[in-house]
Amino acid sequence: MKVSSLKNDIKLIEDALYFYLNNDNKLIKKLFDSMRYSVDAGGKRIRPRLVLEFSRLCGGDDLTALPFACALEYIHTYSLIHDDLPCMDDDDMRRGKPSNHIVYAEDTALLAGDALQSLAFEIMSAPETVKNAGAYKSVRCINTLANFCGAKGMVGGQVIDLENEKKSAKYKEVLECDDLKTGGLIKAACVMGAILGGADDSQVKMAETYGKCIGISFQIMDDILDITSTNEELGKPVGSDLENNKTTYVSLFGIEKCRQMVNELTDEAIKALDCFSADKSALKELALSLANRKK
Ligand code: IPE
Ligand code: IPE
Ligand code: MG
Ligand code: MG
Ligand code: MG
Repeated sequence: MKVSSLKNDIKLIEDALYFYLNNDNKLIKKLFDSMRYSVDAGGKRIRPRLVLEFSRLCGGDDLTALPFACALEYIHTYSLIHDDLPCMDDDDMRRGKPSNHIVYAEDTALLAGDALQSLAFEIMSAPETVKNAGAYKSVRCINTLANFCGAKGMVGGQVIDLENEKKSAKYKEVLECDDLKTGGLIKAACVMGAILGGADDSQVKMAETYGKCIGISFQIMDDILDITSTNEELGKPVGSDLENNKTTYVSLFGIEKCRQMVNELTDEAIKALDCFSADKSALKELALSLANRKK
């Protein structure tokens, strides 16, 4: 993807993210400040970009896909706020700034996460959104996201992740954990984009395969960077996994083997795009850039 179009996409996504966070009720100002604080610049916006790119690949338009793209980023942001809480990873830095609970205290941080989750479902089911996307596609997307973000998706993965701190987990358990906690939202983004663009069932399956491969490899890279990067570059504390005694791919296999796994999963993701006839270069480049990311 060209740098200029990446910049345009990020602006498109961020303008929409801020648009839905308007509020003029003074009584809940602190809650909205806290929600906006975590949504603010600093995130890579991978999940909303995946929604837009899969929608484009399958013939959809950006304006229809945008509310769904924002929904993914709101759910992702809520997951990060909760992930940093003392009862979870207990990390005090996120996206280059103090974590939400450090600034707004745990009670507001918890509720900001809850409210971002509700906002995601509110905007996906809003009359304007449904009018543009059509009722059937809208409900399929809402159902997809609900499945991938809940107990059998991201939240379930976070539970396994916490369990894995108390024991030395095996490869299969770490794989399951990462496929759910990180793969969940990434798969949802790919599938929702494909549905919105009008993909057929077999293409939706391949969009999910692409998401599964880059989702797992995204978490492996995250675990590598937790060891090899710096707080400044990453915008969050390095060494968090070691401190929390987590079993990760890196603790099981070492960095070299993990880099090899990232490359293999990236190849597999790119192969899954074969079933789409339109220009796949943006999604190929996105997969490759994630495999080589530094933050
Ligand atoms: C961090 O996700 C949490 C994981 C799933 C590893 P990102 O690396 O996408 O975080 P942001 O959105 O860029 O801050
Ligand atoms: C978190 O994984 C995945 C989520 C669902 C938030 P990590 O705990 O490794 O993410 P970071 O490193 O804090 O961003
Ligand atoms: Mg975590
Ligand atoms: Mg964490
Ligand atoms: Mg991490």
